[in-house]
Amino acid sequence: MARTIIFKNISQLMTLRGAVKKSARNIQHKDLGLIKNGAMVVDNGIVSWVGRESSLPQKWPDAKIVDLAGENVFPGFVDCHTHLLFAGDRVDEFESRNRGVSYQEIAEAGGGILATMRATRKASEKDLLQLGQKRVDKFLAQGVTTIEVKSGYGLNQKSELKILKAARQLKKARIVPTFLGAHAIPKEFKNEEAYLLSLEKYLGQVREHCQRIDIFIEKGYFSKKRAREYLQSAKELGFAITIHADQLNAVGATELAIQLQALSADHAIKLSPTVIKKLALSETTAVLLPSADFYIHVDYPKARSLLDGGARCALATDFNPGSSPTQNIGLVGLLARLHMKMTLPEVFVAMTLSGAYALGLENEVGALMPGYKADFFISPLQWREFFYDSLPAPVSAVWVDGKKLRAL
Ligand code: NIG
Ligand code: FE
Repeated sequence: MARTIIFKNISQLMTLRGAVKKSARNIQHKDLGLIKNGAMVVDNGIVSWVGRESSLPQKWPDAKIVDLAGENVFPGFVDCHTHLLFAGDRVDEFESRNRGVSYQEIAEAGGGILATMRATRKASEKDLLQLGQKRVDKFLAQGVTTIEVKSGYGLNQKSELKILKAARQLKKARIVPTFLGAHAIPKEFKNEEAYLLSLEKYLGQVREHCQRIDIFIEKGYFSKKRAREYLQSAKELGFAITIHADQLNAVGATELAIQLQALSADHAIKLSPTVIKKLALSETTAVLLPSADFYIHVDYPKARSLLDGGARCALATDFNPGSSPTQNIGLVGLLARLHMKMTLPEVFVAMTLSGAYALGLENEVGALMPGYKADFFISPLQWREFFYDSLPAPVSAVWVDGKKLRAL
């Protein structure tokens, strides 16, 4: 028997109706699809009707009624770029960075990603799962219902698979695992070629655990030329592509993402006006990660040029122990408004529907329209009051697949 729930007594319901129609581009206030005194009907975890409570059809006599007590309803946030599964921390490195040592200098000295790799290799799958679940809960408490989780701190077959297996066991939120074996070159490999060849050998096995692949194309990490071959073989195995692109230097990685029809080009900071235009006209989503830029003192991406050119821009935390040791999506939205001049409607869409596009889930999550999964949260705050305080907005309760999560 179909299980129908009617959510009533909603002060304001954000559906993102216009944003869905416009494929998350050229977002304006009206695209938020706000409904005052709203109601929402959910059938077996899927939204089947949204509208004003006064026009609710009388066709569900057996439905369960949930009174939302005049709170506001929002689509769950989608964090489409995180490095959630790692062990250890980099607090000492943070202190050195604050004394003037750069992120790149730390990496060259064997710190950075490789330091986290050492700690993560030592952790068991169970340890990682425990650490990860706490972090998932922390995201859920902020209304983040979909979380992308990259591997990338194992950097050998055993440890990378361990991370991906742990990712698959994370509960409560919708988890999208991504293989980032090509995050850095561990010392036991003599060069990029040797390391990427080793990854190519076990890509088939990785494919059993996830459908997305990522690579860090950057000076001192992976070259565009070799990345192209690597990603092409991954594409043949059916992986969707995402790239850490042009974060610290202009290395042409965003253009490669466009050419390979990647789902997203992430960071996308060091872009020329020509590349900005190309990206804006492509189907590749620009994933902007301002908390990383804030922590490592680099430029913020040129969000205004991207958005005004018609690009689809997502915002994500890039949560990791090095460049973005924060899960605070309130901070991400605030930085986007303050330093990237994004409007508040643009920020909401960037953290929901555009994030879903970056994960290839744009028809499933990131909006509250008929056919979408009932992933949402309620807050006493109105949308206008979000991303103003540097703390995350208060969230009273969260639903995933139409099921209310117990105490967060
Ligand atoms: O997205 N740029 C590469 N990877 C991460 C940083 C990871 C780390 O420092 O551990 C990023 O910023
Ligand atoms: Fe990252």
